[in-house]
Amino acid sequence: MKFKTLFLTTAALLCLLIGCDREKALPSDREMTLFVGDLMKKMTLEEKIGQLNLCTGGGFFTGPAVLHDDQGLIRQGRVGAILNTFGVDDVTALQKMAVEESRLGIPLIFGLDVVHGFRTIFPVPIAQACSWDMEAIEKSEQIAASEATAMGINWTYAPMVDIARDPRWGRVMEGAGEDTYLGSMIAAARVRGFQGSDLGDEKTMMACVKHFAAYGAPQAGRDYHTVDMSDRSLHEWYLPPYRAAVDAGAGSVMTSFNEIAGVPSSSSRWLLTDLLRNDWGFEGFVVSDWTSIPELIPHGVAADSADAARLAINAGLDLDMEGRVYQNYMEDLVSSGKVSEETIDNSVRRILEAKYKLGLFKDPYRYCNKEREANEIMTAENQAFARKFAARSMVLLKNENNTLPISKNIRSIAVIGPLGDSRENTLGGWGAAGQWDSCVTLLAGIKAKAGDNIKVLFEKGCEITGTNTDGFASALAAARKADFVILALGESQDMSGEASCRTDISLPGVQMELARSVISLGKPVAVVLYNGRPMTIAGLDETAPAILEAWFGGTQSGNAVADILFGDVNPSGKLTMTFPRSVGQIPIFYNYKNTGRPFDPSLPEDYFKSRYLDSPNTPLYPFGFGLSYTTFSYSPLSLNRTAFDRGEEVEAAVEITNTGNYDGDEIVQLYVRDRVGNVTRPVKELKAFRRISVKKGETVRVLFALPLSDLSYYHEDMSYDYDGGEYELYIGSDSDVKEFVLFTVLQP
Ligand code: BGC
Repeated sequence: MKFKTLFLTTAALLCLLIGCDREKALPSDREMTLFVGDLMKKMTLEEKIGQLNLCTGGGFFTGPAVLHDDQGLIRQGRVGAILNTFGVDDVTALQKMAVEESRLGIPLIFGLDVVHGFRTIFPVPIAQACSWDMEAIEKSEQIAASEATAMGINWTYAPMVDIARDPRWGRVMEGAGEDTYLGSMIAAARVRGFQGSDLGDEKTMMACVKHFAAYGAPQAGRDYHTVDMSDRSLHEWYLPPYRAAVDAGAGSVMTSFNEIAGVPSSSSRWLLTDLLRNDWGFEGFVVSDWTSIPELIPHGVAADSADAARLAINAGLDLDMEGRVYQNYMEDLVSSGKVSEETIDNSVRRILEAKYKLGLFKDPYRYCNKEREANEIMTAENQAFARKFAARSMVLLKNENNTLPISKNIRSIAVIGPLGDSRENTLGGWGAAGQWDSCVTLLAGIKAKAGDNIKVLFEKGCEITGTNTDGFASALAAARKADFVILALGESQDMSGEASCRTDISLPGVQMELARSVISLGKPVAVVLYNGRPMTIAGLDETAPAILEAWFGGTQSGNAVADILFGDVNPSGKLTMTFPRSVGQIPIFYNYKNTGRPFDPSLPEDYFKSRYLDSPNTPLYPFGFGLSYTTFSYSPLSLNRTAFDRGEEVEAAVEITNTGNYDGDEIVQLYVRDRVGNVTRPVKELKAFRRISVKKGETVRVLFALPLSDLSYYHEDMSYDYDGGEYELYIGSDSDVKEFVLFTVLQP
């Protein structure tokens, strides 16, 4: 408990100085600075470097790991933080070594990838984004933080805010999709959820924005691959979500594996210091990704491990995740003058400040509370929220002749497909402490809903991958017996996520064959899709009467799907990533540029235009698309004026009527097009949205106030401004909306 003493002495001294009652004094920046400065004076160089070392405590590995004597290192004060150890007993044991056995007793930070829930698992992030529900996203992170902190974790490697336009890349599952505006809102909501208003609260944890930067744009959609893009694209499309997370107060930032225009992120002084710290004012610490510092060697910018350590720390990278190069080479680099002591001190200070903010110096065991561990995880309340949130994240892609919802008066139902009862493919990648045995599968959800009145049959039909069709006969037999068929198809959860890229993103194995055979029976059929990325499912779209995109929905997935299929919840999610018709269209996204030769499909003779010979340009399902069991009609939109002076706001209003038979939620989207830019502008850009509930027969007026400054972008000289001239303004239910009104921004 050396630390408690040290902390109290400093605090007491401060209170004397400022003449206050110690109990009432709130930790201020000044107190923190004094405390940390005091502590650093006592530290040897070896102990300082120790704070810059992040080691795995076991559990998960996402890269090469060597077994080290980490317990010995902890006792020597040569480890600053641990990842992948959780549970009060295990965390307490390691924390004890640091606090009670190392010379200065500096506590450890405990980090984990709490990406979409801790033990209660929510839908994968790409699915959550499809809810367009910032409140729900924030709440899910609050719950994740409260569960994780009950088991020793105080730092999460989330949010992942990489904008991605290529569904071959498996990690699209972890992000918010392709849109920068929506992605930035979600980034901020997640940070607020994890960190709350006070990092010192025992139910909040520190966020880590990743992967800085542009990790979502690897060449050919292959993980860890090269990123090369214009400065304008980087600033306009890829950087804003990181910035939004930093502005929301994120305590740490993780570098990405990739290079950008020849400079790997982990050695980029421009990225980590000039931009992040100097321009954006980031005051937290920067951590590498797993071994991304020694990976500077194969990248070809470092000669050896020592060189890699030198490049990274001098660029502004504070904490080495499992690279072990700070641990092994930093002392020599300092004694040879290749790294200054000041540089080390700056990095150490940032790590110690994070520990201070987390309250670890006051009580290193504050996240090790047996009672919280026993009572605050997987609560009924958390399950109820997970169920609601999963349903809100699902997207109805097709519903011919109102195939869905399923009538509760049918007598039998057949669940068919390899994902129909697959617990291990319910949580989705980065399942943290989630447990398969607590997952509700589709079959379990349907059975619970069907009760005794509806007979539920199940046949797998085939595996997710492979060529075996032996199960088709019994699947078809079950389908023949049933009044309604649910086909549960898709990817296994390990087909998306890190190192899980695919060149073919259609249904794997013989699933499409199974689907065709079952659908050809002519029964009412709904396909429920499980996947972590947009897939190429044109064949399914042509043949299946109904398709529900269920993603990997987490612990309560099966109940949520059942709620939707039986109409207890009206689907309301909208896609945040374009579904291509074929892999050949990738990258395909809604905010593309018009080109000098835009293709107009109503003029098919037009040969020398930007188009394919063998495919339409348009996607299968556009960004923002999603159906409901009800229908909404949009009135013509109206503006308060048609001409605006600089600095003003455009007010746009529309009336939305629920013209169908169910109450429902609609996600109303506002897009803008700048007709004549200083540089070329996208055909549409999302600028605002609203999620509204409309009862059947009801009309709701939605009013948007759009500050003209929201139209700003990077001009040719990289100045950030908006143009005078004409703009098209669209309000609709997806990015394919055609009707617009014009407004003008008057030149100054
Ligand atoms: C991933 C990160 C993750 C880290 C720690 C890496 O392989 O790229 O996203 O946070 O492992 O698990």
